[in-house]
Amino acid sequence: MQITTALKEYSEHFNQYLPNYFIAPSGAEKRVVEAMCYSVTNGGKRLRPFLVYETAKLFGIDFEHSLNCAVALECLHSYSLIHDDLPAMDNDDLRRGKPTCHKAFDEATAILAGDGLLTYAFELLADERTHKDPIIRNHLITALAKGAGAFDGMVAGQMLDLLTEKNQTELSAETLIKHIEEMKTGRLISFACIAGAILGKATPEQYQALFDYSRGIGIAFQITDDILDIIGNQKLMGKTLRKDDKQGKLTFVNLYGLEKAQQIAADLISKAQNALNIFGDKAQTLKDLAQFILERNH
Ligand code: IPE
Ligand code: IPE
Ligand code: MG
Ligand code: MG
Ligand code: MG
Repeated sequence: MQITTALKEYSEHFNQYLPNYFIAPSGAEKRVVEAMCYSVTNGGKRLRPFLVYETAKLFGIDFEHSLNCAVALECLHSYSLIHDDLPAMDNDDLRRGKPTCHKAFDEATAILAGDGLLTYAFELLADERTHKDPIIRNHLITALAKGAGAFDGMVAGQMLDLLTEKNQTELSAETLIKHIEEMKTGRLISFACIAGAILGKATPEQYQALFDYSRGIGIAFQITDDILDIIGNQKLMGKTLRKDDKQGKLTFVNLYGLEKAQQIAADLISKAQNALNIFGDKAQTLKDLAQFILERNH
């Protein structure tokens, strides 16, 4: 099966289950749950949930038994997008082809919807449906907290991204850009793959292989996002393009140029694919997904 078909089939299946996770309370406070639900059920490629599913599948875990973890990660990712789009951050009006959360609702509600999704992600991981073994659940919670956090995770990457906009750091551009792409985007993508390894009780060698794979595709994913900001189709991407340069963002593209950035991404993808060789044919979909990340147009 083609990778785009596999991803589409998974996301359709995943999307059917999502609304069950967002049963709004009846009082006026339901507005925040509606904003959360709006932002999560609002399209999206579901790349991170698919990675959780495919890496867990390497260990014989099925859709149902990876679902809670996949939903938790998509909630966390969607929170990061809501906050990334806020006027104080990237100030975007369009996300996944629809008005951003603060445009569809209002800024305060969007901040709360992000808070709600962040918190809900951990509630889901702590739930017995994620895994019957509390030690496994604890590993997942710790891994997501670190990947999303402010010390070395997504929040740290977002801080650097904003500081470099205004030239407020002292690190060299080469060092900075690696930190930014790795932390703001790579860490959550790493969690997606590590989650499969944790759920599947991977051996240290298998864990390392998935970690190496995830690091390569994580940085490459953000490089292609930066490339698509310049050459992408706005309708397919569902967000306003050609903004990074205007906002003074530091990206692999404005540092090295389009061609070299593409080459860096291609090298990362090929190393990521090789890291999976220990899994044999079972990892073919993950290898194809890496290729999709490199060649994607949305
Ligand atoms: C967008 O992520 C934010 C980045 C990390 C570049 P995606 O491109 O995965 O967005 P959705 O989930 O498909 O909307
Ligand atoms: C965002 O990177 C990464 C996040 C942690 C949300 P971008 O700011 O480049 O993502 P887009 O282009 O708005 O989706
Ligand atoms: Mg941003
Ligand atoms: Mg942005
Ligand atoms: Mg971008």
